Amino acid sequence: MNPHFPALASGFSFLDNAAGAQVPRACIAGITAFLESASCNVGMPYAGSQLSTSVRDQTRLETAEFFGCSPDEVVLGPSATALTFRLSTAFSRLFKAGDEIIISELEHECNASPWRELERIGCEIKIWRAHWSEGHLDLADLEKLLSPKTRLLAITGAANSLGNRPDVAGATKLAHSVGAWVVNDLVHDSPHHLPDVKKSDVDFAFFSAYKVFGTHLGFMYVRQNLLEKLPAQKLHFIPDDSLLKFEPGTNNYEGMAGWLGTLSYLRQELGGGLAGREGLVKAYQQIEAIEKPLLEYALERLKALSGATLYGEPSSQNRVGTFCFNLAQAGPLEVVKYLGEHGVGVAGGHYYATMPMTALGLYPTGAIRASIGHYSTKADLDKLFDALEKKD
Ligand SMILES: Cc1ncc(COP(=O)(O)O)c(C=O)c1O
Repeated sequence: MNPHFPALASGFSFLDNAAGAQVPRACIAGITAFLESASCNVGMPYAGSQLSTSVRDQTRLETAEFFGCSPDEVVLGPSATALTFRLSTAFSRLFKAGDEIIISELEHECNASPWRELERIGCEIKIWRAHWSEGHLDLADLEKLLSPKTRLLAITGAANSLGNRPDVAGATKLAHSVGAWVVNDLVHDSPHHLPDVKKSDVDFAFFSAYKVFGTHLGFMYVRQNLLEKLPAQKLHFIPDDSLLKFEPGTNNYEGMAGWLGTLSYLRQELGGGLAGREGLVKAYQQIEAIEKPLLEYALERLKALSGATLYGEPSSQNRVGTFCFNLAQAGPLEVVKYLGEHGVGVAGGHYYATMPMTALGLYPTGAIRASIGHYSTKADLDKLFDALEKKD
């Protein structure tokens, strides 16, 4: 049992991390310390307000370290989906009829529905189809879809259904060759791999802190030289070059204090106490080292499970520890309920990945999804597979 995560102490095997992760004590302590000091709005020269201002500014700074970008490229928000809809509103004032948008077929609807909204102004949506034997996206297929009219490519860092990781940097290079922008969904990948938006060279990226052992917040990277060009829906006095144009209303400062606690847990407990991005890089090296054998073990047990069909990549190459499968014996929701009764939490359904599920012929019933985090153990996986083996 990981002593840093009190919610795991009950012994329940939580394998629904793709839906949202558990939080370390440092996250809870951050929220409590903040609210016990004061609950004030930002911007005023008294102590309580200064605390909120410093929590917000520190969040922008440390989230920039997490993305691998500059603090003036980080938008703070309530959720990934709220942020992509804000971006889509700005695009709707910038794009015109006949412009083309490419969406990968692996996307969660958070990185698809907001761009489909642009059909209302006459944009054409093209879907970059995956090869469904393994769920892979092929760059050669993307090349055929690109044209001088392409304005946007939406691509995930890892599919929240199948767990595979497409070649985002390769796709970005191709999209940039025709002048298109790239929006990268890092929600599913970021609990397993540290983002590096400068390396992938994407123009926009987002993740949700609650999937990364933090609070219910969303963050978006916006390439600095694009910010001013984006006509956001904003209060009239907010300048065009200000990130505040994507941050309407009052933010969740206690949530930010919790997220800062999570980042300090990552650096202290997994990152060797190193400061800044360096501590996060080290922490994620640890996370990858912990997860790799778990991923391989789970795949092994899944392949040996009678009546099971695994969807997507059957090897541990280029994938995270998310397993999407069905049992011949029973439908996904029945299996999820059965596992819950046996002390194991997994997901069932389409988890808003409606395109992958449709392509696999599984929509709307979907599939079972088990997903590990760095605090998962072999014992959790044994409990899952032992229970599944007994299911009739
Ligand atoms: C891959 C992916 N993208 C986006 C989202 C949406 O994130 P949020 O709940 O912060 O809007 C999710 C949530 O499950 C997800 O798994």
